[in-house]
Amino acid sequence: MGTFDLTRLLPADHFSSALRHDVRHGLTANPKWLPPKWFYDARGSELFEEITRLPEYYPTRAEREILIARSREIAAVTKARTLVELGSGSSEKTRLLLDALREVGSLRSYIPVDVSESALTSAGRALTGEYPEIAVHAIVSDFTRGLGLPPDGGPRLVAFLGGTVGNMPPAERAEFLATLRRELEPGDALLLGTDLVKEPAVLIAAYDDAAGVTAAFNRNVLSVVNRELSADFDPAAFEHVALWDPAAEWIEMRLRSRRSQTVKVEALSLPVHFAEGEELRTEISAKFRHARVADELTAAGFRLTEWWTDDQGRFGLSLAEPVGRNG
Ligand SMILES: C[S@@+](CC[C@H](N)C(=O)[O-])C[C@H]1O[C@@H](n2cnc3c(N)ncnc32)[C@H](O)[C@@H]1O
Repeated sequence: MGTFDLTRLLPADHFSSALRHDVRHGLTANPKWLPPKWFYDARGSELFEEITRLPEYYPTRAEREILIARSREIAAVTKARTLVELGSGSSEKTRLLLDALREVGSLRSYIPVDVSESALTSAGRALTGEYPEIAVHAIVSDFTRGLGLPPDGGPRLVAFLGGTVGNMPPAERAEFLATLRRELEPGDALLLGTDLVKEPAVLIAAYDDAAGVTAAFNRNVLSVVNRELSADFDPAAFEHVALWDPAAEWIEMRLRSRRSQTVKVEALSLPVHFAEGEELRTEISAKFRHARVADELTAAGFRLTEWWTDDQGRFGLSLAEPVGRNG
């Protein structure tokens, strides 16, 4: 068996105080919003895994197709000793990278980083059985709060898959990529998955599936706020909405109040009024074009060295190296 350990990088009360902050600010803003990281309690992580298997949700299959074709090349080029994965979830597709790096013989450790402790624990335990020769050091953290990557263990390959980078608005994404760049050393590499702009109907279906799994995932954020902050949201009183913003080139998920209602968030002594039809934005998911990915990576201090898509051109996977000096 390989080894598995889990570190909570942020102070014990971080997640509860961050949720309080986000709920107070997001639900008193106009329009109302909440950041997508709060979807992912144990139930939310399970629902996301279900989403990845839906017929409408092509991104996982498209990214897997690219990884099947390119993982050996990625392993040969990077010869990574440490694979760091941001927002690793179930680490399902990661196995393709782990297999290829194992073949090259370079890999010593895998560091999955996620807000979801339950996802990290179940993925980490399974991986130690399958990859007895590597050490799995899971980190429970919020990657938007700095990464705190261990400086040793290079060359490091940082994988950020699933199109999760698109959940950050552009300014936050630019700051995130620049911060990540400063944590990397020459010889390290970034592997970035980005969903691509395509026919709106295909995009919308991927976020509004016929079986209603994405709707349940979207409403799950209300259950998280109910449980953690003693709120009294009735999830059924909110309709799941997915829409395409053609100017921003992103999908938005929203929860639309079916009626006029006032929700109490007891832990914050906060009444939140929703007019009938009022919407709460819960996620953006930006869709990219090659030029935008290249430009954003360049602006953050990376050089795009490889760009691959699946056969149908639905999803992009970029390999990039840090350029210039750190700091
Ligand atoms: C869209 S899922 C992608 C999961 C997996 N990488 C994949 O490609 O299927 C996003 C993942 O990132 C995690 N996540 C979301 N926001 C995060 C944050 N701010 N910090 C750390 N993890 C986060 C979620 O818990 C979830 O596992």
